[in-house]
Amino acid sequence: MDVLRYALLILHFIGLAAILGPFLDQLRASAKRITQTMVWGARAQVLTGILLVGVAEMNDVDVDHAKIGVKLAVALAIAGLAEVGGKKTRAALAGDGDLAPVRTFWWLVGALTVVNIIVAVSWR
Ligand code: HEM
Repeated sequence: MDVLRYALLILHFIGLAAILGPFLDQLRASAKRITQTMVWGARAQVLTGILLVGVAEMNDVDVDHAKIGVKLAVALAIAGLAEVGGKKTRAALAGDGDLAPVRTFWWLVGALTVVNIIVAVSWR
């Protein structure tokens, strides 16, 4: 079961990188985009996070339900914002609408991801 936990934890970190990589890459860009990589990263965080909790429960590891509840709520907000921001980005790039409103989604996705990292490492 340790192999499964490690595999999921590695995917959890890859999902995190998929959100924050494109976010940081655009810090100095004038027009912000929610890339498909960010959208898939946000989806991966919800999925791998839930599976990590399942593996912990199966191993009789005590899971802090308040902490997981906060992380899940924040991750679902990130995923929702990434989905909508990603759709707006694709529409704008196809010539239907403009990228200006995506900026808010982009900032919220990046900031909430950092919030979840802080919760993950500092809530003990
Ligand atoms: C954007 C969303 C998320 C981010 C940035 C994130 C970040 C992290 C980080 C940095 C760790 C490693 C912390 C450490 O080992 O000290 C971690 C571990 C973990 N995360 Fe997340 N997480 C997210 C979403 C979720 C969700 C939605 C869940 C569950 C519903 C979850 C459940 C877990 C669990 C159970 C671990 C511990 C794994 C283990 O050590 O076995 N995470 N997360």
